[in-house]
Amino acid sequence: MVSTLLLGALMLLPGISVSANACVERPHGYCKQLDIPLPITADTAVFDIPRVDNDIEAVSWAIYDATRTTIHGPGNIIKNTTTSETFNIHAQLCVPKSTKNGKHNILQIATHGVHYDSRYWDSEYKPENHSYVEAALKAGYSIFTYDRLGVGQSDKPDAYDVVQAPVELEILRQLTFMARNGSLYEFAGHAKPSIPSFKSLAAPHKVVHIGHSFGSFLTSAFIARYGPLTDGAIITGYLFTTQLASAGSTSFSVEYAATGNPPFNRSSGYVVAQRDGIQNIFFGGNPKTAFTPELLDYGISIKQPVPIGEFASAFSLLGNPGPSFRAPVQFLLPELDFYICRGDCRGLANMTELNATYPHATKIEVALQPNTGHALPLHNNATAGFQLIFDFFSRNGL
Ligand SMILES: *[C@@H]1O[C@H](CO)[C@@H](O)[C@H](O)[C@H]1NC(C)=O
Ligand SMILES: *[C@@H]1O[C@H](CO)[C@@H](O)[C@H](O)[C@H]1NC(C)=O
Ligand SMILES: *[C@@H]1O[C@H](CO)[C@@H](O)[C@H](O)[C@H]1NC(C)=O
Ligand SMILES: *[C@@H]1O[C@H](CO)[C@@H](O)[C@H](O)[C@H]1NC(C)=O
Ligand SMILES: *[C@@H]1O[C@H](CO)[C@@H](O)[C@H](O)[C@H]1NC(C)=O
Ligand SMILES: *[C@@H]1O[C@H](CO)[C@@H](O)[C@H](O)[C@H]1NC(C)=O
Ligand SMILES: *[C@@H]1O[C@H](CO)[C@@H](O)[C@H](O)[C@H]1NC(C)=O
Repeated sequence: MVSTLLLGALMLLPGISVSANACVERPHGYCKQLDIPLPITADTAVFDIPRVDNDIEAVSWAIYDATRTTIHGPGNIIKNTTTSETFNIHAQLCVPKSTKNGKHNILQIATHGVHYDSRYWDSEYKPENHSYVEAALKAGYSIFTYDRLGVGQSDKPDAYDVVQAPVELEILRQLTFMARNGSLYEFAGHAKPSIPSFKSLAAPHKVVHIGHSFGSFLTSAFIARYGPLTDGAIITGYLFTTQLASAGSTSFSVEYAATGNPPFNRSSGYVVAQRDGIQNIFFGGNPKTAFTPELLDYGISIKQPVPIGEFASAFSLLGNPGPSFRAPVQFLLPELDFYICRGDCRGLANMTELNATYPHATKIEVALQPNTGHALPLHNNATAGFQLIFDFFSRNGL
């Protein structure tokens, strides 16, 4: 690990930025940054959606998206296409220091939602209280996080016709293949810098999936369609009900990403949430006890633009039946999630419907994290919420 002093000195040099996340040694594990070239072929489409090239068009898109008669489905497709391209996916693989409880053989693959990148899982602000990656390593798990297409340090292709739900589902599937067949660990072993803990790592015995928000749209569709590829799943900040997204995209308070505050290096069709939008979507509960102004500021500082094609294509991930899923799944809902449950998740889960969606699941559990909004890790009681996940895994042999 780069010492704090050295880190401070490096940050004073122009052009060099070293984040705490770049550290290879963590309190409870070792992490390696990876750039994985991933060949992807997936069904895509040209959708009938407005173009966004300035702030007025960004807000206009949000109103269009939230309009009650706007079609979110195949009826909005002008032309069906196929995308076949190799994308660079930036990722981080972490392995725990302690292998005592044997859970290092279980790899968690974590998929973040929209408006964020993989830093969602790995807070640099008070990591011991707010980084899910740190908590997972402390609990003995290996964990893989990645920047979805269009955010962070991954490729940022066309916002209308390329960054779409089926492409992202295929990225998750290929990454899972790599994890299961050992090629991911082999890739990590060869990637610089050379770290002993990553040399000749055996492929994980089990691979489980965890999602947040749009990452849970993806994870729930993934376990439904490709059940045999997962050994268990945690779906956070997502439940498919009539309340889902009923607050509408206007609640994001978007501006055009290329000229936003701060501006992002993005092309046409990328929008980004402003301060109040980040609070609307991600923060909830009693503002005196649920989160601090520092957590809100941190949540705003790691925001990422969103390509609007993701919203036009998201429908394909919703309500997929999962008869091939034969593993345990936990739905972990922030009690006061505004975007998913319109501010109140209590009593919204319908076990009859969940049983019907995953008829061969070995266990389906719904858990609520009290006094918490959509971004679970960025609330005061986050570590207790993380523990609900690890307890669920342990109760189910994971
Ligand atoms: C595109 O494909 C979808 C799903 O197969 C189909 O429902 C839709 O009619 C097609 N649209 C066009 C314009 O071909
Ligand atoms: C934050 O982390 C520290 C160090 O692990 C711990 O002592 C403290 O109880 C945690 N606070 C909360 C609110 O979880
Ligand atoms: C592992 O899976 C990846 C992704 O599908 C594939 O490219 C690679 O050839 C596979 N490797 C082996 C050894 O099967
Ligand atoms: C902006 O993004 C483009 C396309 O991804 C890239 O080629 C260019 O180097 C980036 N510019 C800066 C200043 O990062
Ligand atoms: C749960 O879903 C089933 C099947 O759709 C429905 O019959 C039932 O009324 C729902 N229960 C509640 C409490 O909404
Ligand atoms: C859902 O399935 C579980 C396990 O089979 C069962 O115990 C439970 O009663 C079911 N719940 C409903 C509402 O059908
Ligand atoms: C913190 O979360 C845990 C786990 O959900 C819960 O049991 C506890 O009541 C919460 N504490 C507060 C103060 O909300």
